[in-house]
Amino acid sequence: MVQQSTLFKGLPLLAVAALAVDYPTLPDDLTTPYQQRLAIMSPTAVSIGWNTYEKLNSSCVDYGTSSSDLSQQACSTKSTTYSTSRTYSNAVTLTGLTPATTYYYKIVSDNSTVQQFLSPRTPGDQTPFTFDVVIDLGVYGADGYTITSDASTSKREIPAVEPDLNITTIGRLADTYDDYELVIHPGDFAYADDWYLKLQNLLDGTDAYQAILEQFYDQLAPIAAGKPYMVGPGNHEADCDELSLLIDLCPEGQRNFTDFLHRFDATMPQAFPSTSTNTTAQTLAATARTLSNPPFWYSFEYGMVHFTMIDTETDFPDAPDGPDGSAGLDGGPFGQSGQQLAFLAADLASVDRTVTPWVIVAGHRPWYSTGGSDDLCAPCQAAFEDLLYQYGVDLGVFGHVHNAQRLQPVYNDTVDAQGLNDPAAPMYIVAGGAGNIEGLSSVGTEPDYTAFVYAEDYSYSTIRVLNATHLQVEFIRSETGEVLDSSVLYKSHTEQFVRQ
Ligand SMILES: *[C@@H]1O[C@H](CO)[C@@H](O)[C@H](O)[C@H]1NC(C)=O
Ligand SMILES: *[C@@H]1O[C@H](CO)[C@@H](O)[C@H](O)[C@H]1NC(C)=O
Ligand SMILES: *[C@@H]1O[C@H](CO)[C@@H](O)[C@H](O)[C@H]1NC(C)=O
Ligand SMILES: *[C@@H]1O[C@H](CO)[C@@H](O)[C@H](O)[C@H]1NC(C)=O
Ligand SMILES: *[C@@H]1O[C@H](CO)[C@@H](O)[C@H](O)[C@H]1NC(C)=O
Ligand SMILES: *[C@@H]1O[C@H](CO)[C@@H](O)[C@H](O)[C@H]1NC(C)=O
Ligand SMILES: *[C@@H]1O[C@H](CO)[C@@H](O)[C@H](O)[C@H]1NC(C)=O
Repeated sequence: MVQQSTLFKGLPLLAVAALAVDYPTLPDDLTTPYQQRLAIMSPTAVSIGWNTYEKLNSSCVDYGTSSSDLSQQACSTKSTTYSTSRTYSNAVTLTGLTPATTYYYKIVSDNSTVQQFLSPRTPGDQTPFTFDVVIDLGVYGADGYTITSDASTSKREIPAVEPDLNITTIGRLADTYDDYELVIHPGDFAYADDWYLKLQNLLDGTDAYQAILEQFYDQLAPIAAGKPYMVGPGNHEADCDELSLLIDLCPEGQRNFTDFLHRFDATMPQAFPSTSTNTTAQTLAATARTLSNPPFWYSFEYGMVHFTMIDTETDFPDAPDGPDGSAGLDGGPFGQSGQQLAFLAADLASVDRTVTPWVIVAGHRPWYSTGGSDDLCAPCQAAFEDLLYQYGVDLGVFGHVHNAQRLQPVYNDTVDAQGLNDPAAPMYIVAGGAGNIEGLSSVGTEPDYTAFVYAEDYSYSTIRVLNATHLQVEFIRSETGEVLDSSVLYKSHTEQFVRQ
């Protein structure tokens, strides 16, 4: 309490108290769907998640292959909340989809509209496709970041005008909507835990936290309602650490990935059944499915790619956000001891490269990055790197550091001499520049594996799966659409099951 009164001293308290928390206006019809989000659940199923301002006894979605004939219906009774939230998280799974086909859906409510999506590509479909990588994306506007420049700090100022989302990363995803088929976002959503950075929020942390989450997922919905939006956990899903002065105020929903779990626990997949003819691979994939723990660690396949999502926050030795972890967040564990790493080993071992030539692993915290040792997750490297190398992972995707980086293929801190020409080591990127209230991370130290780094403006990555041997990795400047960096990774993919 002493610390709190010290913090508040000198602030114009009356002026602060007069400012209301920026909650979205409640609809008259409390079944109105908000914060819609689509995800891949199986080769023939997607999930639809959304939030409402009342609990739904039965949440349903009508769907079909014509906007005028939504003849199929999927329902569930899941409608969950937690004590500090105004909204309920709902989720249903649409099954029996014909692959790579345009579907239409309408969440059942008197106040919803028809939306559409492309159903997942079958594992092994050789059609080239593109996906985007967005990490460390925060709310835009008065409670978050804006793109008004403040060169002196690389942070951004409170806008004088209403937010123009068309010039943010979300705006660029909207502008390029036809260019990509899915988005992966391994960690750090909304930055609601940074509510205390805005004066108007200081006296009402719980509501400010929730208001930012509502705003953020409303802002994301135009993208996430129509493109599979595959997520993983980041430290900001559990962060109270930055509140050390006000720790007593840390609202319940802010701890231990609470909101993240309500929002995504029923909408992310486990792991796909193997379509390999090799029975060992089939057994390993079944084991991985059993050990998976969505939305923390899981895998899915899409066309030529096997994607594995890992949790760099909890559930491995010395995990930074775990009990006694270095971040002091006391999160998790979410699985049994050793479960995540056993999942990863079985999952990667199961991949048949004649079906999905590419293996991409995505998580939040990198172990290779510019910037300095504070930006590197050494326990992550100890836990995960050998598995990624051993099973020939092609690309590692990380964020956490707020800028854009392409790193040479590297293993055990040593650059692979093959470069992008059929390396044995994984290539890595850091795509943490999507934009949030904390601003950009300066480049800092550039280790010898650094191939490209950009920290002047907000950015994200576009990855083009050209064919079974060529993968194009681009970084895009969000505001302008300019391609900042483009490279092509060549992998011969001659072995059916990689072991090295
Ligand atoms: C219907 O939904 C829109 C948002 O999609 C909302 O602005 C409006 O208030 C809702 N109408 C009612 C009657 O709730
Ligand atoms: C859910 O069921 C309860 C009890 O039967 C009822 O009072 C409530 O109005 C229902 N809610 C909705 C949204 O239908
Ligand atoms: C972005 O939105 C602002 C305000 O609505 C508008 O003036 C501007 O033309 C828009 N820019 C683009 C590129 O659409
Ligand atoms: C079957 O798959 C396993 C790994 O999943 C691999 O080690 C083994 O070599 C494969 N067998 C054949 C005959 O390819
Ligand atoms: C976090 O949540 C998980 C799952 O509910 C639970 O098992 C774990 O004990 C919680 N950790 C803490 C520190 O409360
Ligand atoms: C990793 O590098 C260290 C020092 O450079 C070396 O001693 C060690 O043998 C290497 N380990 C592997 C698995 O290559
Ligand atoms: C794969 O794509 C690359 C880059 O476009 C191209 O050079 C190569 O010929 C393609 N390979 C095959 C087998 O089509």
